Amino acid sequence: MESVDFHTARALLEWQMELGADECISDTPVDCYSLPATLAKPKAENPKPHLTRGPIRTATQDPVGVAQKAADAADSLDALKAAMQAFDLCDFKRGARNMVFSDGIAGAPVMVIGEAPGREEDRIGKPFVGAAGQLFDRMFAAVDMGRERADAPVYITNILPWRLPQNRDPKPDEIAMMKPFLLRHITLANPKAVVLMGNWSCQALLGKRGISRMRGTWTEVAGKPALPMFHPAYLLRNPVAKREAWADLLKLKTSVSK
Ligand code: URA
Repeated sequence: MESVDFHTARALLEWQMELGADECISDTPVDCYSLPATLAKPKAENPKPHLTRGPIRTATQDPVGVAQKAADAADSLDALKAAMQAFDLCDFKRGARNMVFSDGIAGAPVMVIGEAPGREEDRIGKPFVGAAGQLFDRMFAAVDMGRERADAPVYITNILPWRLPQNRDPKPDEIAMMKPFLLRHITLANPKAVVLMGNWSCQALLGKRGISRMRGTWTEVAGKPALPMFHPAYLLRNPVAKREAWADLLKLKTSVSK
């Protein structure tokens, strides 16, 4: 069997624990009743060494500060991607298969910021390629834009580059830790306008939620005009909201075509 390093082994174990595994199963069955009492039931004052679920970092490390320094030092999108690959203070990175940095054409007038990779994005390493991604592509195609259209390109990223275990919601400290990279990403991609897709993007970049209220109203992020919009995953669950999404897409199109 291929050997794995400590961090990978730990990440694999933590991933299984997240899924609910709490016992190691060996090749041969173990009769717990025949084990010495100390092995079968560890005393509270002498607990089994156990994986902690807390962050894998030392108490003195400040993840936001480390992220800020790394992001500030990146002078190109490639350098930013490399800095994010090297950033090791984010627990959920260890459970992800791939880092999802971006897709589409860098330098496009529109930069879309989604939430976090799902299962398909994690597998493929690109944002918005699952069911919501297919709707995403249809939405932009409807206004003659798209990630692969050289004449009207779109550049896409997420607030988090790694999949969260079981697609759980991001925690505030996880958003805070990745935010310096995200802000640097916007600066380096230098779009004419930013689309904040869904509540988590608004939470990360505007510090507030309430997409039904905020959508369709221009605001500002990192010095760029920013338009909150419904997330395509929401539109899949609530097709009637596509009407508003259509209005927002037209607004976006008009603004970047000026
Ligand atoms: N949802 C997102 O917000 N981003 C993705 O990349 C995929 C689904």
